[in-house]
Amino acid sequence: MTDAAVNPLKAGLEDVVVSPSEICFIDGRKGRLIYRGYDVDDLVAHSTFEEVTYLLWQGRLPSRKELDAHIKALSATANRKLPPKLVAMLRLLPRKTTPMEVIRTGVSALSTFDPDAADNSREATLRKSLRLTAQLPTLVAAWERIRRGKTPITPNPKLNLAGNFLYMMSGKKPTPLAAQTFDTALILHADHEFNASTFAARVTAATLSDLHSAVVSGIGALKGPLHGGANEQVMLMVEKIKDPAKAEAWIRKALTDKARIMGFGHRVYRVEDPRAKHLKRLALELGQQVGDTSRVEILDTVVRVVGSEKHIFPNVDLYSGAAYSAMSIPTDQFTPIFAMSRIAGWAAHVLEQHGNNRLIRPRAEYTGSTRATYDPISQR
Ligand code: COA
Repeated sequence: MTDAAVNPLKAGLEDVVVSPSEICFIDGRKGRLIYRGYDVDDLVAHSTFEEVTYLLWQGRLPSRKELDAHIKALSATANRKLPPKLVAMLRLLPRKTTPMEVIRTGVSALSTFDPDAADNSREATLRKSLRLTAQLPTLVAAWERIRRGKTPITPNPKLNLAGNFLYMMSGKKPTPLAAQTFDTALILHADHEFNASTFAARVTAATLSDLHSAVVSGIGALKGPLHGGANEQVMLMVEKIKDPAKAEAWIRKALTDKARIMGFGHRVYRVEDPRAKHLKRLALELGQQVGDTSRVEILDTVVRVVGSEKHIFPNVDLYSGAAYSAMSIPTDQFTPIFAMSRIAGWAAHVLEQHGNNRLIRPRAEYTGSTRATYDPISQR
């Protein structure tokens, strides 16, 4: 009997369980998402992104004292600021470099400045996780400023991670609603079990490579439009539709043309992604605050038509961009923002992988020839 007969081939590893994990549980039929036992709906209602990073990395909620120390470390300028040589390197990049290319390059470069770069002990990986989580918003915002010919803004240690990021992007303190919305978006994107980028990060970590390398693998996988890149594609669709009155005709034509509609469908959820409702509410509230709810109106029409025609549901990427657009964040920054949050999950998974490691090395079902005869080049 062949290996493939024992273990039937699953295209895209659908439903294949790769390893036990205590970090995240998805109930795809009930539409529930759980981090370390806590329903994400409860975390959205009561927690903060800073606390969620502690929960994911340490496996439990912190005490008041532990949380205060964790927030202080994540907010410290020493941890948030970028090495000046890295900023100088960013200035050398072509202006057209996309923000995803910048963070993929930037995280790789940050490892060369990290004092713990080659140390894979749990303590060192925790220190690196904290620094990378603190540095990523500074990196994303610095590139936004540099490509617009402006000077990067020094992080403000008095602001939380969400508020400080919005401040470093625009130079203005965000409204409480914007800061709250952004913090919620970060909580919702922090982890999602063995999604493609986390799996990529774990494969890299399982070779006993380091955190920065695993995160670079994760960023590369997140970039694609079937994964994190979908949020950007959703907003490009909304920009094409432009007018809520034209949304129904536009989406019906797209479905007739057999187009893949970004922000819909999921490998695990058979019902609506539990994160989508929060992002829709926040996108609507922010749209109302800035007096433009047209993006949400367009998306609501798209949801109605795609739901009735294809029976597929919105995922996390459908409404997030509408919220970010209402905060005047450029569309090509949406996926880097996803990475700013998912770094929490990638780090938790690298810690778990290193804690009980075995090389991840699957097999292929070989479908090629095994009896080819080598002809010298002169005879081909
Ligand atoms: N638009 C149109 N049809 C879709 C669809 C979408 N967004 N998502 C799934 N489908 C259809 C497929 O055409 C296929 O139909 P068929 O069996 O008639 O050919 C069926 O649903 C299964 O799709 P498949 O691509 O095999 O599912 P998957 O589990 O491999 O893919 C995704 C999951 C997420 C990659 C897929 O739903 C998708 O491409 N979504 C759009 C990108 C996106 O939003 N990604 C973010 C995910 S959080």
